[in-house]
Amino acid sequence: MNHSRNLQVSLYRLGTAAILGLVCFAAPGCKDKNAPSGGGSAGSDSTANSPADALVIGEYGSITGKEATFGKSTDEGIQLAKDEQNKAGGVRGKQIAIALEDDQSDSPKAETAVTRLIDTKHVLAILGEVASGSSLAAAPVCQKSGVPMISPSSTKPAVTEKGDYIFRVCFIDPFQAAVVARWALDGVKAKRVAIFTDNASPYSKGFSDNFETAFVKMGGQVVAKQSYNGGDKDFKGALTNIQQSHPDAIVVPGYYSDAGSIAKQARDLGITVPLLGGDGWDSQALFDTGGDAVNGCFFSDHMAVDDPNPAVKRFVDTYTARFGHKPDALAALGYDAAKLLFDAMGRAKSLERRDIRDAIAATKDFPGVTGKITIDANRNASKPAIVIGIKNKQFVKVAEIADPDHPMASGK
Ligand code: PHE
Repeated sequence: MNHSRNLQVSLYRLGTAAILGLVCFAAPGCKDKNAPSGGGSAGSDSTANSPADALVIGEYGSITGKEATFGKSTDEGIQLAKDEQNKAGGVRGKQIAIALEDDQSDSPKAETAVTRLIDTKHVLAILGEVASGSSLAAAPVCQKSGVPMISPSSTKPAVTEKGDYIFRVCFIDPFQAAVVARWALDGVKAKRVAIFTDNASPYSKGFSDNFETAFVKMGGQVVAKQSYNGGDKDFKGALTNIQQSHPDAIVVPGYYSDAGSIAKQARDLGITVPLLGGDGWDSQALFDTGGDAVNGCFFSDHMAVDDPNPAVKRFVDTYTARFGHKPDALAALGYDAAKLLFDAMGRAKSLERRDIRDAIAATKDFPGVTGKITIDANRNASKPAIVIGIKNKQFVKVAEIADPDHPMASGK
């Protein structure tokens, strides 16, 4: 069963790559002559099949590169939102078009990608990125140009601190890391914990600090701290050091692209304690490198596909019917970010970017798949986090935590 699923997933990926290569990337030199000042029209260089007066939204993401599943899932969520919106009449009677730029999972390229979206596509607003490092690189360009940017899923606080045009629709890491700390103590009963940080990732570094602060405050003890650089292949030296401190659990706040190999090498060394991650673990590709080694591990996330909540169920069913595989949290957050943006564009005083910005900032109780979204004074959202347990190579929801400062009623 797992085999056929994997096969299906990889065939699907091939298909997406081929289609993206052909359709989504417009020639860089191609100019949109008719763009109104401060606004975008589709012109000839936007999404194929969109009318010439479509409202153009930019999207940048890791469609290829080491975190490719982040970009692809987010894009699918955004495409689904766009198609639903267009079917229901679009925004202000106009169709929405998405102009997509691939940053290849590379932060400096993220900056180039948004510059191109703004200068050559004249987009009204921008959706992206997932990885905080890439959002941090691109946000100053959006801020300087006065183009609203909504990150679906970057959780590092510094992202929205780049300025008043920068928003997110997800919770932030001080909260998420506290959720993992609470789960370590009450769910896993781990009092002594080691932290293994990706020093190449701003997300991982911030998460590790936030975790330590929260965990120590809750009465836990950090017994070892080690680091790696995303993309490393050999983690055994650092893991051996961790092993010698006899932790009850190891916190690995990195991306799936490394976490799977880390779990595998930890098990090879005879380390049996659970590994705990954050949202960066959310990808089926975790099993490509982790295999069975990630069973018994946990991570915090924004959504669980097996959540019985009717809004989640509806989204999971629609998405699965459309794309032939289940969504992850990235897809749900991409969908929510796009829908929230369309809603704000509908409410805005005009389609000037400044007015779109103001309407996004005024968002209250927007019903997202990942929960109710209210944009606060710091342009962030707060929602409960889901704790996912990995059992038989499946992601299973084991808890939902809204207030990590309080002990859980019944740990597992
Ligand atoms: N929160 C991660 C970051 O800021 C990105 C991420 C979000 C990854 C959700 C997976 C799921 O870098």
